[in-house]
Amino acid sequence: MLKVFENHLPRRIHFGRGVSALLPVVLGALGVKRPCLVTDQGVVAAGLLGRVTVPLVQAGFEYSVFDRVEPEPPFACVEQARAQAAVLGGVDGIVGLGGGSVMDVAKILAAVIEGGRDVRSLAGVGKVGRRALPVVMLPTTAGTGSEATPVAIFTDAATGGKVGIVDSCLVPDAALVDPALTDSLPPGATAAAGIDALIHALEAFIATVATPLARGVALEAARNIGRALPLVCREPGNLDARDNMALGAHLAGVAFANSSCCAVHALALPVGGRFHIPHGVLTGGLAAAVMRRNVPACEADLVVFAAALGWGHVPALEFATRLETLAEQVGVGPALRRVPVPRSSLEAMAREAVANHRLMKPNPVALTVADVVSLYEETLQVN
Ligand SMILES: [Fe+2]
Repeated sequence: MLKVFENHLPRRIHFGRGVSALLPVVLGALGVKRPCLVTDQGVVAAGLLGRVTVPLVQAGFEYSVFDRVEPEPPFACVEQARAQAAVLGGVDGIVGLGGGSVMDVAKILAAVIEGGRDVRSLAGVGKVGRRALPVVMLPTTAGTGSEATPVAIFTDAATGGKVGIVDSCLVPDAALVDPALTDSLPPGATAAAGIDALIHALEAFIATVATPLARGVALEAARNIGRALPLVCREPGNLDARDNMALGAHLAGVAFANSSCCAVHALALPVGGRFHIPHGVLTGGLAAAVMRRNVPACEADLVVFAAALGWGHVPALEFATRLETLAEQVGVGPALRRVPVPRSSLEAMAREAVANHRLMKPNPVALTVADVVSLYEETLQVN
């Protein structure tokens, strides 16, 4: 008997060069007249804000901008944005223009802008319940897929660990995936975001909770990313590769929104906040070792996924080695080894990873604290 399942998708997804100019039309369809644009200093410095504000001005919209989202944002970031919106008054929709950090702040702001709810109390699964305002996302990196997901990740300022807020009401109303917004992404960020997208597709495909939609979309994501990731890292100006990465990363987001990420992400989250290692450097660097552990439970899936990446017919263990080679080739392996991690921190991080049931339970193989410590020892620069 087939499993019961449920899928969540944005109501509108526009993809293609130039679709960011459709923002006024999309906001109009949602009844938004005074949007708040949520973004960060990197997006402003890259000159991307004008790509959306110029069409808004031309269409006669009044808008405000919150441009102080921090990387790996703390909950306080949402509170700052909410305070600004309260002072301005009249905000009736949220637009997220940026990478994962920006989009995560935007989706939670849209949920809590009214009613004074404590953001920390929403951590976990299904605790948000309702979203106050419509939200539209324009990703400026090809990696996170957050424009399609019900997930927002924050850093707990007290512990340095990462905390997820997950609720189906957080799936954005619309996503405008314009590859042109990713053209000026620097090489290091392109590689880290891109390999993270590959891991999203992979974990969505092998997760025990994967829906049929997620498995199909994950393979299509892999078809785009497998070809384009090494190419865009070698040739950052290759616009076809940028297009394929933007599409692949978006589809990978759709895939894990309707499945789950698994152990690679469970292991990455405790490390990133504590040692300020970019998320994709961690997921890309940890993936091969975790997949070797997963082989006994999902060997056939790994072979299928490798073929979708364009790697031909490779045995599952060889697939893990190829992942390692890719991580080295695009630079995330060396980037991970540049950050020393004290041995004394491994046990606490491993406990935190194993306690993350949301990500660990869907993993094809159960991992113990001892397993995770040894995976950290294999992959991190432990001293
Ligand atoms: Fe990720």
